[in-house]
Amino acid sequence: MQGKRVLLIVSGGIAAIKIPETIRRIREQGAAVRCVLTEGGAQFVTPLSLSALSEDKVYTDIFSLTDEHEMGHINLSRDADVLMVAPASADIMAKMAAGMASDLATTVLLATDKPVICAPAMNVRMWEHPATQANIQTLKARGVTFVGPEEGDMACGEYGMGRTSEPAELVAALRDFFSDVPKPLEGRHAVVTSGPTHEPIDPVRYIANRSSGKQGHAIAAALAKLGCRTTLVTGPTVLPDPAGCDVIHIESARDMLAAVEKALPADIAVCAAAVADWRTADAPGQKIKKQPDSAPPALSMVENPDILATLSAAGNKRPTLVIGFAAETDDVIANARSKRDRKGCDWIVANDVSPATGTFAGDDNTVHLITGDGEETWPRMSKADVATQLVARIAATFEAAE
Ligand code: C5P
Repeated sequence: MQGKRVLLIVSGGIAAIKIPETIRRIREQGAAVRCVLTEGGAQFVTPLSLSALSEDKVYTDIFSLTDEHEMGHINLSRDADVLMVAPASADIMAKMAAGMASDLATTVLLATDKPVICAPAMNVRMWEHPATQANIQTLKARGVTFVGPEEGDMACGEYGMGRTSEPAELVAALRDFFSDVPKPLEGRHAVVTSGPTHEPIDPVRYIANRSSGKQGHAIAAALAKLGCRTTLVTGPTVLPDPAGCDVIHIESARDMLAAVEKALPADIAVCAAAVADWRTADAPGQKIKKQPDSAPPALSMVENPDILATLSAAGNKRPTLVIGFAAETDDVIANARSKRDRKGCDWIVANDVSPATGTFAGDDNTVHLITGDGEETWPRMSKADVATQLVARIAATFEAAE
């Protein structure tokens, strides 16, 4: 971290008492620290102690003419290599999500063009509140990354999720940020589909499937980690949006296809979604009423577009590498091989989803990779590890072609 500059935004919460120690440790690593302190933060830690430890002025007031003359809120954010909000209160994250600029800290956060890391700290109920969770999803979708919170005893006497990470963890997050992890997919664009689709029967009912989206989301996260600009088009899941991806939420197969086509051009397409094969021929605009003494309605189905096959045959818009998934319950490899031919994609990741394997909704997966060169069986591993390995293979393929 030698020579790097960290702008530390300290908001209100008892966890602010961890910040002087954090500053000391960041500086031990060779980075410079400059602090912005909110009014709430100043209730827990004094500007003087932050200034003494950072050996710099501490910025608190947006209306201070001297500060604005010397530095200005725009420069304050642009002069840093990274912004870390620690502790990040529920309040400051809500303001960030809403785009508010009501004090110096939030103005700097709105004006910045630099990466932002948040270290949330709050009471467990505040953390679990749907408003806070929704704000976090919004921030993640915009590329804000998070360190913590952790589970543990809280200053308020309760126990649960919401403790800020310790200074060592905060410094480790910055070290990771500055580490020279190779980004072999920088400059590439990937489109990933994930999750199930919901096909409407009427405005209140739909047909769905058991896909959790865990594998597709893990692949999107792994691509983004290697520097790939990643557009994730996902059906309804309970998963948080993965960090660093542009996430588009859709419901039906037709919406998914439209979102994927809009996201093109792409170098890579990974179709991990469990797209419904059929939808009802026509979903009426009103709820279908249960009529006394009449037979249940008959659903007439029509075929959905095949997104993987459409992408594979997209002519000059075809991504260079198109990867499909094959969820099979028997003859896994043979079925996957013929699926690869039928759909016209380059690779197929085949997995056994027979109920005994627990693959659907589970955290592990056993996959076979079918390429033009043959097939491989990978050992059972977590879906996150499948994603890391698959993305490493994608990166190696592009490197070999250069
Ligand atoms: O035909 P099947 O559903 O078994 O093929 C699975 C593969 O095709 C997956 O990669 C899935 O994402 C993709 N697919 C698709 N659009 C569909 C059906 C499947 O992209 N309508």
